[in-house]
Amino acid sequence: MSRGIYYIYQGLAWILFAGLLVQFFLAGLGVFRAATFRSHRTLGDVLIYASVVLLILAVASLLTGNLDRWKVGLTALLVVLLLLQYLLATDSLQAGAPFISALHPLNGVLLVFISYVLAHGHDLPWAAQTRVGRGATARSDRV
Ligand code: HEM
Repeated sequence: MSRGIYYIYQGLAWILFAGLLVQFFLAGLGVFRAATFRSHRTLGDVLIYASVVLLILAVASLLTGNLDRWKVGLTALLVVLLLLQYLLATDSLQAGAPFISALHPLNGVLLVFISYVLAHGHDLPWAAQTRVGRGATARSDRV
């Protein structure tokens, strides 16, 4: 059962990763005027809600011993960066500080990277090294 929560977490992380990739295509449709930005905005909102659910599942997986603490932190960072992504594209910021709004696509790349790390379920190279260094093999079931 507790492992099941982690599998739902991982499945949702993959969905988020795919949704973030789709965002690039939808942004492209808007930039090249093949469509409006409406679907891009709507999916962006959905992804924010999905990331909050992902964070709840991450905490549940941590409590049941199936997820490392740093991955819960990374999931929290994903939520924060998705909120930032929303703020970067607000009409008022676009009008008042377009140079800051220009960070929106760059932050999008970061979001894709983080969601991939979470969905893939493996350690980052430096995190794996830290773990080996500590000799922490007892909880090898953790991902
Ligand atoms: C991970 C990828 C992305 C996510 C999650 C995302 C999310 C969002 C969200 C939530 C909004 C609506 C903001 C609001 O309602 O105030 C938005 C707007 C916008 N996004 Fe993105 N975005 C992503 C990638 C990109 C990329 C790569 C571009 C490249 C050009 C882009 C261009 C824009 C533009 C121009 C707007 C404003 C549209 C308008 O004013 O109607 N986005 N984005």
